[in-house]
Amino acid sequence: MAGNRTSIHGQWSSRWAFILAATGSAVGLGNIWRFPYLVGENGGGIFVMVYLVCVLLVGVPILMAEIMLGRRGRQSPINTMKALAADENRGQGWQIIGWTGMLTGFLILSFYSVIAGWTLAYVVRTASGVFVGTGAAQVATTFNELVSDPERLLAWHTIFMMMVIIVVSRGVKGGLEQAVRYLMPALFVLLLVMVGYAMSTEKFVEGMRYLFVPDVDLIRQKIENGQFFGDVFLNALGQAFFSLSLGMGAIMVYGAYLPGSSSIPGTSIVIAMADTGVALLAGIAIFPVVFTYGMEPSSGPGLIFVTLTVAFAQMPGGAFFGTLFFCLLLFAAWTSAISILEPAVAWLVEYKNMTRVKAGALAGFAAWLLGIGTVLSFSHWSFSFPFAGQVKTDGLFDVFDTLASNILLPLGGLLIAIFAAWVMSTKSSAEELGLSKTAYRAWQIAARFIAPAGVILIFLNAIGIV
Ligand code: PFF
Repeated sequence: MAGNRTSIHGQWSSRWAFILAATGSAVGLGNIWRFPYLVGENGGGIFVMVYLVCVLLVGVPILMAEIMLGRRGRQSPINTMKALAADENRGQGWQIIGWTGMLTGFLILSFYSVIAGWTLAYVVRTASGVFVGTGAAQVATTFNELVSDPERLLAWHTIFMMMVIIVVSRGVKGGLEQAVRYLMPALFVLLLVMVGYAMSTEKFVEGMRYLFVPDVDLIRQKIENGQFFGDVFLNALGQAFFSLSLGMGAIMVYGAYLPGSSSIPGTSIVIAMADTGVALLAGIAIFPVVFTYGMEPSSGPGLIFVTLTVAFAQMPGGAFFGTLFFCLLLFAAWTSAISILEPAVAWLVEYKNMTRVKAGALAGFAAWLLGIGTVLSFSHWSFSFPFAGQVKTDGLFDVFDTLASNILLPLGGLLIAIFAAWVMSTKSSAEELGLSKTAYRAWQIAARFIAPAGVILIFLNAIGIV
């Protein structure tokens, strides 16, 4: 049984519609662009192993908590937290979860849109056939030319942000449900095609080993240098939040539109499995190609654009498959970006009584403006700085990404877990989750102790305290 509020923003047409929308939010650039390059920068198999642990022990319990809070509050995250805190006779302070979430959303959307712009550029390039038959060096040069041209990046960034604003303005159901229903499975199939190509390359086994077998010497070395927790764990934790869209209210606001009768736990498991499956498939498709063509796994944010383009350049029908792939990646990015903007839009509609069109345009414009920082990060405004044992080299893009993914999302998730498992009464959470006694107990232990302790320990370690 769910609480008795209703949403003024409408509702998903069914539990499946919610699963599709939440999966659309979760599966995006985070899985296909961010996950593989973080694997490459953080030592391969050890990162994957730690990532899976973070998803299971921290991600899934918080995913359930966030959907639960959303459905019980049925408003934008700021107002949901206000209402739920009032239900428990707590002060207004808990709305901080909604406010930091909204700030984090602007930071993420600002760079997300620029990277989605790279994807748009690659749809056009691959379709034009310029890459057919070219090798790794040439493909890398073309990529560098793109990112070091701020005007071109700005144009693609602007087009993508307009696409996001248009869909958000139309409301929760208009178009979004339909798009996700067909495009997500198509992306999955195309990733399988890419995995098929990776299997035909010379270094398939090496790629798989890199991805799935943790390098014991590297772990020892990282532990000795004090980098194992501080950087590998922190990056894996941040990626788990980023990839599952957790910690900033995106899933909470989608949960607000979930019909009362749907099972939250079952739904959460489907979303987490789909999200993790897509990330792993992307890794399997990429690393064998990286090794076969002698590329560098730790080459950073350009990794998939260069690697997959080389694969498309070499495989039969590559221009066709390449265009299709970048189109689908674009849709995946689109459905995620929409969810990043939704908490702010829902709040503006509730608080300022704005129309969705106005709210979408205003919030989208703010994120677009902030995105100029990322546009310039790969050329005029590039600088480097150290963070948790690693050197970040991509200017404001790295500042925004690190601040949002590695600090603000886990912090938001921590507060969400504390509120859901400690502040909210057991009666309310048990009623909303609808689990058996044992399963509820397991969730409670994970959300009360394991997830918060994990986040706190990783934070303390990153700043050198434990
Ligand atoms: N989960 C999305 C991805 O993996 O691309 C990105 C994202 C969406 C992050 C929504 C945060 C968020 F709230």
